[in-house]
Amino acid sequence: MSKILIVYYSRTGVTKKVAELLREKMDCDIEEIISVKDRSGIMGYMFSGKEATMKTPAEIKPAVKNPADYDLVILGTPVWAWNISSPMRAYLLQNKEKFKKIAGFCTMGGDGDKQSFSEITNICGKELVAKLALKTKEVQGEDLDSKIESFLIELINLNKTHGHNII
Ligand SMILES: Cc1cc2nc3c(=O)[nH]c(=O)nc-3n(C[C@H](O)[C@H](O)[C@H](O)COP(=O)(O)O)c2cc1C
Repeated sequence: MSKILIVYYSRTGVTKKVAELLREKMDCDIEEIISVKDRSGIMGYMFSGKEATMKTPAEIKPAVKNPADYDLVILGTPVWAWNISSPMRAYLLQNKEKFKKIAGFCTMGGDGDKQSFSEITNICGKELVAKLALKTKEVQGEDLDSKIESFLIELINLNKTHGHNII
């Protein structure tokens, strides 16, 4: 079995919930990206939106796990201003040379998943082997489990269709 790492950032717990459910279903490690700045409240919302719009990487705490030790890194971020969050941008910029294969998931109020996934690909210079986009209300809804399982099946099927040895 491949070694898998889930890396995610979550400001208000929505992306974290998805990351933890994925973690429960796979035998893998997990790393939360921690922002140095407090992003709570309206002020946190405002400067987070500004950073995302300006494509400014956030200041983040050093990662604990080395992504180079993993066959697949699954990257999870909330969508901010139709793009990836600034803490995820910082993590990608710091680690892009270390990824073997990447997959991605994002959570969002309504829209911005395609742009976010393209941005991850642009920064890392790699296609995502599987993608999962969830609206915030879907993360809170009853169908979440089945959506997560579809994403896992997508990863498993890659073994057959593209010769990737994922899980
Ligand atoms: C600064 C900021 C910008 C956001 N921009 C978008 C957006 O462009 N499109 C969208 O659908 N949701 C947007 N959202 C909503 C979040 O993507 C959504 O609430 C997400 O599920 C939050 O995840 P989290 O709890 O893991 O932080 C934004 C949220 C914040 C804080």
